[in-house]
Amino acid sequence: MNSNFSSMGEVLAHLQKENINNLESRAGYIQGFIDKENKEHGYEYDRYMEFGAANFTNVVTEHSGSKKECILWCVNHYLSLNRNKNVIEKACNALRDFGTGCGTSAASCGMSSLHKEVEKNVAKLVGKEKAVLFPTGFTANVAAISYLAGRQDLIIFDRECHSSIVNGLKLSEAKWISFKHNNVSDLKMKLRKYQNSYQNIFVVVESAYSMSGDLAPLKDIVALKKLNKFYLYVDEAHTFGIYGDKGQGYCHEQGVTQDVDFIMSTLSKATASIGGFIAAKQEFCSLLKWSHPYVFQACLTPADAAVVLACLEEIENNPGMITELHEKNRYMRKLLESKGFNLGLSQSPVIPIFIENHNKLRTVVSELYQEGIYSTPICFPAVKLHEGRIRLILNVGHSKEQIDRTVNALERICIKHGIIRSCDEEMVMRKVV
Ligand SMILES: Cc1ncc(COP(=O)(O)O)c(C=O)c1O
Repeated sequence: MNSNFSSMGEVLAHLQKENINNLESRAGYIQGFIDKENKEHGYEYDRYMEFGAANFTNVVTEHSGSKKECILWCVNHYLSLNRNKNVIEKACNALRDFGTGCGTSAASCGMSSLHKEVEKNVAKLVGKEKAVLFPTGFTANVAAISYLAGRQDLIIFDRECHSSIVNGLKLSEAKWISFKHNNVSDLKMKLRKYQNSYQNIFVVVESAYSMSGDLAPLKDIVALKKLNKFYLYVDEAHTFGIYGDKGQGYCHEQGVTQDVDFIMSTLSKATASIGGFIAAKQEFCSLLKWSHPYVFQACLTPADAAVVLACLEEIENNPGMITELHEKNRYMRKLLESKGFNLGLSQSPVIPIFIENHNKLRTVVSELYQEGIYSTPICFPAVKLHEGRIRLILNVGHSKEQIDRTVNALERICIKHGIIRSCDEEMVMRKVV
């Protein structure tokens, strides 16, 4: 095996590029890289949180057993509700009153009254007639994307769409094609080109992209409906609960809810549980209840559903959390930009720090970890090979002090490795030019 790989992303890209399909070879490449990393620096994808997610928590490296108390930047609990007292109490009550698992799928009577209340409440919040609840956001996307479009249909999706959407496409009988990320002209051109060749066209986008924090130009996409007929599917995983004055999501904030045919979200992020939903008109929801992940997969537990309900109640009673999150987002972004970081076109509380070179990316992650600041490196296949980044996911529970400490450490480490220049240097450069 080539021992010059500088990240697991490079190993995975190599397997794909060289078309290495043999099971033993593929497993050998992966294990070989893990063993080498464990010997040399520690392998970052075997870390876990000793006592679960919190803004400040113990991160354990499984191979060595070493622990470090860290400010945590890699979880999507945007509203930090996973540690909310009321939410935890309601989860405990549900466990006591409803037991643990459901034991079967929704289609064969696995849901409880709590699950049904979740479906009702999320549909009402996002502004749709009905919602269908799935055990995870991943399977909600796989179910809907694979099942809605038929053999004579076309799905056009944004090139940055999440893996769950791409996996749904692969299972679908429809044809599919991507358009350039957030590029409405490219989408318009493709809609025009394919309009007459398919029975139905579905356009699939995310309201905020998980790896870049870019927001979708929803108003411009919706405007295309005046020119071409298509169904619009929006994944609100990273905006549900945190956009809109009451957490209704980005479709609501942009005033496009009625023009969006399907609103999807996970319940594992702002609502700190597990599960996913598709909200749409009644007929579409009835159809989705025959998708295989709905029929053949056990439900989320009653306690998970109780957590969602409790989180929605917290958001309704305290919408100030949303304002506070966006204030902190603006603060952190301004601070990072003042230090010379290029945050691309990102806007949501997902803040990418782009570091193309995988060696440098992993070194920065490792040095931050030594200082008690943790986020995982984002590499291929989550993003393209040359688009590596650290993703700082801001949660409302992050304090200003934690933000300052993180940005200062990042600045120091990135200057040391030549990723950004120091302010002094930049001034000298400007003078010279
Ligand atoms: C955009 C997007 N859609 C769907 C999912 C899947 O949701 P879950 O992890 O809750 O199953 C994710 C998860 O990261 C996501 O980022």
